[in-house]
Amino acid sequence: MSASLSTVSYIGATILFILSLGGLSNQETSRRGNLYGMIGMAIAVLATVFGPQVTAAGIPWILGAMLVGAAIGLYAARTVQMTQMPELVALMHSMVGLAAMLVGFATFIDPEASKEFTGAAKAIHEMEIYIGILIGAITFSGSIIAFGKLSARIGGNPMLLPGRHWMNLAGLLVVIWFGREFLNAHSIDEAMTPLIVMTAIALLFGVHMVMAIGGADMPVVVSMLNSYSGWAAAATGFMLSNDLLIVIGALVGSSGAILSYIMCNAMNRSFISVIAGGFGTTSVKPKASGDAAQPAGEVIPVNALETAEMLREAKSVIIVPGYGMAVAQAQHTVFEITKLLRDKGVKVRFGIHPVAGRMPGHMNVLLAEAKVPYDIVFEMDELNEDFPDTDVAMVIGANDIVNPAAQDDPTSPIAGMPVLEVWKAKHSIVMKRSMASGYAGVDNPLFYKDNNRMLFGDAKKMLDEVMVALEA
Ligand code: TAP
Repeated sequence: MSASLSTVSYIGATILFILSLGGLSNQETSRRGNLYGMIGMAIAVLATVFGPQVTAAGIPWILGAMLVGAAIGLYAARTVQMTQMPELVALMHSMVGLAAMLVGFATFIDPEASKEFTGAAKAIHEMEIYIGILIGAITFSGSIIAFGKLSARIGGNPMLLPGRHWMNLAGLLVVIWFGREFLNAHSIDEAMTPLIVMTAIALLFGVHMVMAIGGADMPVVVSMLNSYSGWAAAATGFMLSNDLLIVIGALVGSSGAILSYIMCNAMNRSFISVIAGGFGTTSVKPKASGDAAQPAGEVIPVNALETAEMLREAKSVIIVPGYGMAVAQAQHTVFEITKLLRDKGVKVRFGIHPVAGRMPGHMNVLLAEAKVPYDIVFEMDELNEDFPDTDVAMVIGANDIVNPAAQDDPTSPIAGMPVLEVWKAKHSIVMKRSMASGYAGVDNPLFYKDNNRMLFGDAKKMLDEVMVALEA
C-alpha cells in the first residue's frame, strides 16, 4: 500500500472513530456507533499491516500474532459474564500498558530506529520513549491490581501506608532525576540503568496508587486507567511515528478522563480524593454505634400477589433497576411485566442512575438486550421530579442508588451522592433477597419507610411470580 493511500485510510479511520464516540453517547445511536468503530478499526489495522512501515517479511509474524490475540479476545468475549465486565476491561488496559512499555524498550534498543534522529529530534524522541514507558508501566501494574481487586483476588480495603503521599512525591522526583540521567547518557548501555530504575518505580507506583483506593471507588479507577491506557497508546504512537495511534490514544485518553469526571460527580466524589485513595470498602458490615444514624423501624414485607395487585392498581410506575437485576438476569421478565402493564394502560418508565450496577451504562445494556424501548428509559435527572406523581416505584435489586441517607444523613459515607428519590412516590416496592447492604456497605433507611414494601427473594424468581399473578 502506498504512503498516500495509507494516510487517506488513517484519516478515514479517524473520522469513523470520532463518529463512533458520538454514536455511543446515546442508546438509540449506540449500535451505529459500535459499527463505525469496528469499520474504523478494520481500516486502521489493514492500513497499518499493509502500510509502508511494515516490510513483507514482517507480515506473517503480525498475522500470526493477530490470530493468537483474536482467538483469546473471542474466547474472553464469549465466556465473560456481564458482571465480570469491569475486571475484563481492567485486564485489557493492562495489555495496553504492557504494549507501551515493550514498544518503548524495543524502540530504544533498536539501532535502526534511533539512527534517524539527531540533535534536538533525538532528545525529543528519547523523551517520548521515557514518558511512554513511564505511563505504560503505571497503567500496566495499576490495571493488574484493579483486576485483582475487582475479581476479589485482592481485598477491597484501601492499603494506606504511612506517609504515602510523601513516598509518591519522592518517587516522582527520582523519576525526574533519572530522566535527566537517561537523556544525558552517551550509549544505549549507559541509558539502560536509569530506564530500568524508572520502570521499576513506575510499576511500584501503579501498584501503590490502586492499592490505596477502596472498593467503592474502583469504578472511577477503572475509568481513569482507561484514560491512562489512551495516553500510553498516544505515547506509543509518538515512539513509532504513527499518527493514527496518537489520535486514537488522545481520543481514548480524553474520553476516559471525561467519563471519570462524570462518574465522580454521580458518586459525589472529588477526582483528587479518589486518586489520593482511602474511601470505601467492599466489606458489608454494620456501622459501629456512634457512627451515622441507624435506620429504625419495621419493614413491611409483601408477596408477589400483593405486588401484582399494587402494580395493577397503579396509573404510573417507575422501575429502578440495579445490580441485583443484573445478577438475577431478570431484565427479560422485567420487560414482559412492562408490556403487560402498558397493555393495561399503566404508564411505565425506567429510571437509570449513572452508576447503577457495576459499570457505566450497565443497566442500559441489559434493558437494550431485553428490547425495552429507548423512549421509556430515562436518566436520573430526567425523572427525579416525577416521583411525587408516581403511584409505584419498583426497585429491582438496587440499593445504594435509592438510599435517602445520601440526602438526609451528612455523616453517611455516601452523603451527597445524587440518588433516585423513590421514597417520594406514593408507594415503593424494593425487590431484593435480604436486608443486606449494597456495594457501599451502608444501611438503607428506605426499607423502613411507611410507604415502602419489601418483596424478598431472587429478582428473577419474584418477578416470574408477579407476572403469573398479573396474567391471572
Ligand atoms: P448495590 O447498592 O450494590 O445493591 C444491589 C442490591 O442487589 C444488593 O443490596 C443485593 O441485596 C441485591 N441483589 C443481589 N443479587 C440479587 C438477586 N439475585 N435478586 C435480587 N436482588 C439482588 O447496587 P446499585 O443500587 O445498583 O448501586 C450500585 C453501587 O455500585 C453503587 O454504590 C456504585 O457506586 C457502585 N459501583 C458502580 C459501578 C458503576 S460504574 N456502575 C461500578 C462499581 C461499583 P441482597 O443481597 O439482599 O439481595
